[in-house]
Amino acid sequence: MHLLCLLALLSPLAEGISVERRRQIVQEFNVRRSASSDTTPLQVGNGNFAFGADITGLQTFKPYAILSTWGWHNFSLPTTPGQTSPEDFTGLDWWTHDRLVNYEQPNPAQPEISNWLRENPHRINLARIGFDFGPGSFQVTEDDLQNKTQELDMWAGILTSSFRYNDTSVQVLTAVDPDLDSIAITIDSALLRTGLGIFFDFPYPTKDKFNAPFVGVFNETSKHSTILEQSSPHAAQITHILDSTTYYANLAWSGPDATISRLAASSHRYILAASPESHSHNLNLTITFSPTPSTFTSSPSTSSILASSALFWSKLFATSSFIDLLSVPFPQARTLQRRIIQSLYLTTLNSASALPPQESGLVNNGWHGKFHLEMTLWHLLPFARFNLFPLFSRSLPRTYEKFLESSKERAKKQGYKGARWGKMTSPEGKSAPGEINALLIWQQPGPLYLAEMEYRHAVHLEGEKEEEVARVVAAVLKKWDRIIHETAEFMADFPYLNQSTGLYDLGPPMYSVSENTNPNVTRNAVFELAFWGFGLDVAIEWKARQNQTVPVSWIEVKDKLAALPVQNGTYVSYEGIEGMWTRQETTFDHPGMAGIYGLLPGHVDKEVMKRTADKVRENWRLEESYGWDFAMLAMNELRLGRPDRAVEYLLHPVFAFDDAGYPVGGSRVPTPYFPNSASLLVAVAMMAGGWDGSEGMKGHWPAGWEEFVEVEGFEPAL
Ligand SMILES: *[C@@H]1O[C@H](CO)[C@@H](O)[C@H](O)[C@H]1NC(C)=O
Ligand SMILES: *[C@@H]1O[C@H](CO)[C@@H](O)[C@H](O)[C@H]1NC(C)=O
Ligand SMILES: *[C@@H]1O[C@H](CO)[C@@H](O)[C@H](O)[C@H]1NC(C)=O
Ligand SMILES: *[C@@H]1O[C@H](CO)[C@@H](O)[C@H](O)[C@H]1NC(C)=O
Ligand SMILES: *[C@@H]1O[C@H](CO)[C@@H](O)[C@H](O)[C@H]1NC(C)=O
Ligand SMILES: *[C@@H]1O[C@H](CO)[C@@H](O)[C@H](O)[C@H]1NC(C)=O
Ligand SMILES: *[C@@H]1O[C@H](CO)[C@@H](O)[C@H](O)[C@H]1NC(C)=O
Ligand SMILES: *[C@@H]1O[C@H](CO)[C@@H](O)[C@H](O)[C@H]1NC(C)=O
Ligand SMILES: *[C@@H]1O[C@H](CO)[C@@H](O)[C@H](O)[C@H]1NC(C)=O
Repeated sequence: MHLLCLLALLSPLAEGISVERRRQIVQEFNVRRSASSDTTPLQVGNGNFAFGADITGLQTFKPYAILSTWGWHNFSLPTTPGQTSPEDFTGLDWWTHDRLVNYEQPNPAQPEISNWLRENPHRINLARIGFDFGPGSFQVTEDDLQNKTQELDMWAGILTSSFRYNDTSVQVLTAVDPDLDSIAITIDSALLRTGLGIFFDFPYPTKDKFNAPFVGVFNETSKHSTILEQSSPHAAQITHILDSTTYYANLAWSGPDATISRLAASSHRYILAASPESHSHNLNLTITFSPTPSTFTSSPSTSSILASSALFWSKLFATSSFIDLLSVPFPQARTLQRRIIQSLYLTTLNSASALPPQESGLVNNGWHGKFHLEMTLWHLLPFARFNLFPLFSRSLPRTYEKFLESSKERAKKQGYKGARWGKMTSPEGKSAPGEINALLIWQQPGPLYLAEMEYRHAVHLEGEKEEEVARVVAAVLKKWDRIIHETAEFMADFPYLNQSTGLYDLGPPMYSVSENTNPNVTRNAVFELAFWGFGLDVAIEWKARQNQTVPVSWIEVKDKLAALPVQNGTYVSYEGIEGMWTRQETTFDHPGMAGIYGLLPGHVDKEVMKRTADKVRENWRLEESYGWDFAMLAMNELRLGRPDRAVEYLLHPVFAFDDAGYPVGGSRVPTPYFPNSASLLVAVAMMAGGWDGSEGMKGHWPAGWEEFVEVEGFEPAL
């Protein structure tokens, strides 16, 4: 559909914030650069595939990555006897309430296979694509280009770059197809006639865990191979063979006849250059990556990719829930607006994936490209809160279905019922060996929260007939039922009945959200207890909605779960912690206490919660906070009726975003750290839509904002 038709179609429907107003706001925050960044690219992509560009619109000077959902690689297995296959890995037995339980922790007797399982498979950077400035090209640097300008139009997902070289201008458009792993590049320049070409280079992976912002190396050329086949004056295929991983790059171009050749036999760099007799100023190129040899003879044209990209992104911003803060007469509102728009663009581009997103998205290979399932909740919640359910459903509940069998095996091996979800997880559902990975538990109730979001959406479907709503609701209940059942079975079996209190305890051993306490003494961590109670409530309700019998164990455990730990009138990290507000080592990292009333609709004592929030403000080392901490604190303050404090947290100097909206990792994690973006969106959605029970409360915005804020399409948060 043409964009104008889309606008015509949507305009009469949009009662609240018009499509034109939305476009203005989105484009107001289009990113403009005049030099490459050393830390973040500008990206075009589709959630499953992304291209990171430097100032040239390509990867000429900065080898930013091209990452995908499907591109993974294994290094060869260790050869040390007894450690030559994943099956040899034994993990470790730890005491768990008077019995030994096997955990997927690195075994000191098996260092090689333990490491191998953590580092493999890892995501691969598919290629580097850049300008070749002719013979002597290697000496050309970014400083040799003049008049560098660049604009990323988020309304269209199109990056426009221009510069001058040899006194001649070069104009570049870069975009990615919304559905295919195809990059479109159009180049306009008279230099195409005098030797300006495009290079393609192919890297070898590394074992780096945080190789931000670049991925792979280009000088280990003897370890992998590439094969070029030029099928016509306008098409070629390059096959890249990396040990047992093989994939294909299909190139198609229109404009000049051009030839592609290998720089040297010892190199994996190929150069596409127009024939000298060609007089064209215009080269249109598409590069399609695929794990299987291409079967299509005609790649999508650049113009069709540009058009589909524009349609996808404009439709996204035109139909999502929307917040307009630009009339608010305070500068903070503009900053928040910029963060909302850029976060929505980057969260979609990096996290709307068919597999769970990774913390560094499709920018780099953080944590070897694996996914942390406790973070799946944060990564995917924005799609529910901004009414983008088709993006939400790309990986849900599919991911949990895919990992169900391996998670049931994990639980069974440890003597529990149901499915125990892993933390740092590979695409095959294997849990990467690690002490924290094996003992963290807050990923467990995550699917219950996500399922509940989809259920609420179905129940509130607007403009649909009653029978249609009933049909959709029944389908949602059914599609999540098995996941919910197995998740809750574990949750009812895992807590330990404390004989002296008659209540069910969580841990030890366990790691809490903050990952900084001794797992052998951490018992009844506050956030986990609250999440367990919330999750079991959802599971029980889910069965009731389907008129199914609720397993008695779920009700028993839910009713007798230990109380949230309170000491000296405040919630504390875990039961029995000593002097937590006065010690350096217990007043930093994720403040789980804020999560029970921030992220979760906790049944809390509001006075205790207020004192807790005040204690955090006075004592917490926020300079070492990261990720969703600020959003969680903000949501906690919202529920406590202090929206001014909420905005203060969202604009805290440590909760930083760069010029292009990338979430800065800070002192703890590399940049970008996408849970920041996701959590910001979840927090502002709560300001915009309120939450269950907030009706009648005046304003979820700071004083003086309310009358100027326009919002559209938000449902109350849980
Ligand atoms: C890597 O190895 C694991 C374990 O053998 C296997 O399950 C997986 O499919 C392999 N992945 C790739 C990309 O080769
Ligand atoms: C926790 O207990 C296990 C044995 O169950 C032991 O190997 C480990 O060192 C202990 N960790 C700490 C931090 O005390
Ligand atoms: C290009 O840059 C030069 C030197 O920086 C400047 O003098 C000139 O006006 C610029 N030209 C354009 C078209 O922006
Ligand atoms: C740029 O100018 C240099 C020096 O005149 C010349 O050698 C080179 O071929 C030119 N490059 C292009 C792409 O026109
Ligand atoms: C590749 O480059 C890196 C970083 O410059 C260097 O450490 C490594 O030894 C090089 N490898 C080869 C095979 O040249
Ligand atoms: C290249 O694409 C542009 C934009 O879609 C189009 O206007 C132009 O005609 C195309 N040129 C060629 C040679 O295909
Ligand atoms: C049972 O609970 C009591 C009081 O909270 C606590 O002191 C004790 O350590 C718990 N027992 C076990 C085995 O964790
Ligand atoms: C559950 O039972 C109620 C009352 O008997 C009925 O109205 C409803 O349709 C049933 N729901 C399902 C999902 O079977
Ligand atoms: C509670 O207060 C007492 C007395 O001031 C102190 O010893 C204790 O450490 C405090 N507990 C916490 C968790 O701060």
